Amino acid sequence: MRRVLSGIQPTGQLHLGNYLGAVRNWARMQHSTDAFFCIVDLHSVTIPQEPGVIGRESLRLAQMLIAAGLDPDVCTLFVQSHLHEHSECAWLLECTASFGELSRMAQFKDKSGRQEFISAGLFTYPALQAADILLYDTNDVPVGADQRQHIELTRDIAERFNYRYGETFVLPTAVIPSAGARVMDLQRPNDKMSKSLNSPKGTIDLLDDPAQIQKKIRSAVTDNGADVRFDINNKPGVSNLLAILGAATDNNPEDLADEYRQYGPLKADAAEAVVALLAPVQARFAELEADPAETTRLLRTGADKARSIAAETLARAKTNIGFLPEG
Ligand code: TRP
Repeated sequence: MRRVLSGIQPTGQLHLGNYLGAVRNWARMQHSTDAFFCIVDLHSVTIPQEPGVIGRESLRLAQMLIAAGLDPDVCTLFVQSHLHEHSECAWLLECTASFGELSRMAQFKDKSGRQEFISAGLFTYPALQAADILLYDTNDVPVGADQRQHIELTRDIAERFNYRYGETFVLPTAVIPSAGARVMDLQRPNDKMSKSLNSPKGTIDLLDDPAQIQKKIRSAVTDNGADVRFDINNKPGVSNLLAILGAATDNNPEDLADEYRQYGPLKADAAEAVVALLAPVQARFAELEADPAETTRLLRTGADKARSIAAETLARAKTNIGFLPEG
C-alpha cells in the first residue's frame, strides 16, 4: 500500500473549498492507502499567534476533519507539535537545503511580502514541511497546486541527503487535483476559495447554516450573458456553481450545464446540494464538540502511531550522519 501524507494548518475555519478540494479526497484515499494527516501547528507559529489560541484551534480542526470523514481508526490523524521528531528532523533538513533554494519559494515571497515581522521560521518553513513528509517514508503527498514547489524541494533535499549520508529517505511525489476540481470564491470567481482572501461572502464555511449557504450562493457573482455553460475562462462564476453542484452531487459539471437555461434554478439547486452535503458533517461535528475528551484521546493514539514511524526514520537519519551515540 502506498503511504500518503498531507498537512493542514489549524488557523481559520475549514471552508467548502478545503472540503471539496482536499479533505473529502483524503477521506476517500484513507481506505486504499496507508494515510497520515498532520495538523501542522508548528507551521502556524511562523506568524505570531495570540497566546493560548492555537491549541483550541487544533482541537477544533481535528473535530472538523473527523466530522468531514477522516476516520482515526482507518488513518493516522495527529498534531505535529506532539512529536519532537518533526522539529528535530527539520533542523537536519535546514542544513541540507540551501539558502538559495529556500529564497526561491513562491509562498515565502508571497507571505513575507504581507508580513511586517518576517520570522526566520517563515523562511525555513519548507524544511519543516519536508520533515513532515520524509519522516513517514511518504510516497504520495496530496496538495493544492500552490504546494508543488515545496514537494519538489522536499524531493531535492531528500536526494541530496541520501547522496551525502547514504540511503535514508524515500522520495515523495505531489498528487495535485485537476484545476476543474477547484472551488473558487463566490464573489471573486477567478480566485480560489481561501481563508486568506478574507472574503466572507465569497466563502462557505463548513459550519454555515442553511440560510447562510442559500444567501451566499444566491448572491454569488455570475457572468455576462444569460446562458449556462461550463467555461472556466469566459464564465468563471457560472462554472464555479456548476463545479460545486457537480462535486456535491457526484456529477460532471459539463453534463449539468445542459440541464439549466437560467442562473436562478442553478443557484437554487447548488444551494440545496451544499446544504444536504454539509448537514451530516455538521451533525457529527456537534457530537464531537460536545465531548472534547474523546477527540483528545483519538489524537493521542494518532500521535503514538505516528511516533513509532517518525522516531525510527529520525534515528536512521542521525545514524547515517554519524552522530556520537549517547551510549
Ligand atoms: N504547507 C502546506 C500548506 O500550506 C501545509 C503542510 C505542512 C503540508 N506540512 C505538510 C502539506 C506536509 C503536505 C505535506 O498547505
